[in-house]
Formats: sequence, structure tokens, C-alpha cells
Amino acid sequence: MDKILVTYATNSGSTSEVAKAVMEELQKSGAQVELLPVAQVSDLASYSAVVVGAPMIMGWHQAALSFLRKNKAALGKIPLAVFVTCMNLTATGETSLQGVPVSVDKNLPKPPKVANRLSFKERYSRVSNYLRPILRASARKPVSVGVFGGQLNYSRMQWWAMIFVVLILQAPAGDRRNWDAIRAWARGLPDLFNAEVARS
Ligand SMILES: Cc1cc2nc3c(=O)[nH]c(=O)nc-3n(C[C@H](O)[C@H](O)[C@H](O)COP(=O)(O)O)c2cc1C
Repeated sequence: MDKILVTYATNSGSTSEVAKAVMEELQKSGAQVELLPVAQVSDLASYSAVVVGAPMIMGWHQAALSFLRKNKAALGKIPLAVFVTCMNLTATGETSLQGVPVSVDKNLPKPPKVANRLSFKERYSRVSNYLRPILRASARKPVSVGVFGGQLNYSRMQWWAMIFVVLILQAPAGDRRNWDAIRAWARGLPDLFNAEVARS
């Protein structure tokens, strides 16, 4: 891989730190890596692979989805990996979706209260519900999707966000980022990117 772009969207800043950890692991593979917020990416022509990461904010962050849609043509030509940060995930055992491998931080998923009868919140927080819109917006199948715990800080939240988080999400505040899981996922990406290039 010549040059890899790690790009991210964030609401409160914690996903940018996840993106930085991903960048550091990719650099260890010898690749040249650039880290940029999605809003600052103007041209993808100089990259040989792209990682896009963003939090769930009532759906995957809109800026990240728009990035995938806006750059469909360029992203169709190079390997893509995606990561998601979130606070709630229902344990469903999903390890792939539409043929895309999904790597979930094992500390994150919670089993449903009643097996085989998911509540609204539990259905909403399934891997498949979170990832389907991302795969729909992607020009090509990501080589891998990482799903990691994020960070929730009530003091940084606007009132509308607080309403959603308290009433619907019901997630406790805290830092659930599992750096070992994040870094292990990132370390696996160069091989997946190379295999994808060899296939196409
Ligand atoms: C308004 C709002 C909506 C959120 N929606 C979800 C959600 O649907 N599912 C989830 O698991 N986490 C949700 N979260 C939690 C965030 O995904 C999590 O806090 C993330 O780490 C925030 O990343 P950031 O600090 O980069 O903005 C939401 C947080 C906020 C503030």
C-alpha cells in the first residue's frame, strides 16, 4: 500500500482518537498514512486504500455517509475499510453482513433481555441495523467493518441529543473504547487491503 487515508466524522471528539489509533497501527506496517476529518478530504486520487470511521449518532454520522456517497466513483477503485463507534449493541452473533466481515469488540454486545423477542431498542441496536445503510452507501464492499465501543459524555451534549440518548438509547455515560480491540483490527487491515488489490 503506497498511501492510506484514515478519515473520520465525530460529534464530540472521541472517534478522532480512535481514528488516530488506527492510523498509528497502519503506520507500523510501513505504510504512509494520512489522518483527516471527512470534511477536509478533497481528492482521493493519491490514496491506495481508505478507512472511514464515525460514530452512531441516530444512524451512522451523516457526514460519513455523505462522504461515502459523494466519493462513490473514487472509492469504487480502491479498497475500503469502515469502523463504527457506538454505546449500545445487541448481542446477535452477527459476524458478517452481505458478505462483509464484521469485527465486533467482544466487550460491547449485550444479550437481549428475552431471547428471541427483541425489544425496540434491542432491534435498533443490532449490527445489521447499524451497518445496512453504510453498505448501501459504499461503492464496493468494505474489506472489513469494525464495531467498537465509544465514549459518551453527557456534559458535552446539546438538549436534542440528550433527549435521544436518555429516552431511546438509555446508554450510561462513560468511555467504552477498547484500544486493544481497535488496534488489533487496524493491524489486520494491510493484509486485507493487499488481498483485495490482488483480487481485482
Ligand atoms: C445524539 C446521539 C445519538 C447517538 N446515537 C447512538 C446510537 O444510535 N447507537 C449507539 O450505540 N450509540 C449512539 N450514540 C453514542 C455515540 O455513538 C458514542 O457516544 C460515540 O462514541 C460518540 O463519538 P464522538 O465522541 O466521536 O462523537 C449517540 C450519541 C449521541 C450524542
